[in-house]
Amino acid sequence: MEQLKVLREHLGETDEIILNALLMRNRIVEDIMAFKESHGLQILQPEQDEKQNKWLDRKLEGKRHSAEVKNVFDCIVNNSKRIQARKLFNYNIVLIGFMGSGKTTISDYLSTSFAMEVVEMDKVISDREGMSISDIFEVYGEEYFRNAETNLLKEMQTKANVVISCGGGTPMRDCNVEEMRKNGRVVLLTARPETILDRVKDSHDRPLIENNKTVEFIENLMNKRRAKYEAAADIIIETDGKSELQICEELVNSLLKKDAEDSGRQSL
Ligand code: S3P
Repeated sequence: MEQLKVLREHLGETDEIILNALLMRNRIVEDIMAFKESHGLQILQPEQDEKQNKWLDRKLEGKRHSAEVKNVFDCIVNNSKRIQARKLFNYNIVLIGFMGSGKTTISDYLSTSFAMEVVEMDKVISDREGMSISDIFEVYGEEYFRNAETNLLKEMQTKANVVISCGGGTPMRDCNVEEMRKNGRVVLLTARPETILDRVKDSHDRPLIENNKTVEFIENLMNKRRAKYEAAADIIIETDGKSELQICEELVNSLLKKDAEDSGRQSL
């Protein structure tokens, strides 16, 4: 019994070390983010993630409970990413743009970089209805789908620090834009019609262009939508010819700039 007491004491001491190390780690994470911001350094550094993973794999090689330790480290890293995200943005990031402008790809990249939850509106609606977007259009009509989008945006206002990837037509309703602005910053992603065609040509869940996959049709619809898209946007990011990393870095920096401008205006 005496031995059990001693073992528990050792365990308690170990927990104390872990706790203090975690608190210190989180402080360092905040300091690194502040340093990057104040020195205008690149915020996203995927190569750092890779380096860290390799280091951990090397350290854990042949060790007992390596899977469990890896799991804890994954959690630690994800929490650090969340701390960084909250330090950078205390709001939801709402991605809008034409079909194929890169909303899904960029929300996935942001989610990996900052461990942010992603709400892919088309997917949520389709899962809830238990049918594809094309089937929803066919069975219930476009108006039904558009109402589902509006309701989902209202629901999203209870969330914070989430990436919301909208459907291409979501900003066409003014009330949707109002709902987006209540809980987040709106980011418009753009691409040339040729780029869009290239990105959507092999997919079949976009009823509005399924039988119209031409540059002319895309350009025409894009021109009709441009004014609404631009009016809804807090920032605009062109995606042609850029890597996901470049787009996300530009997006984060533009949001920070916009926030600084707005807080400067407020303090006047
Ligand atoms: C639409 C775009 C689609 C989807 C639906 C309608 C549109 O989303 O919501 O097919 O009106 O532009 P993506 O932009 O994600 O393809």
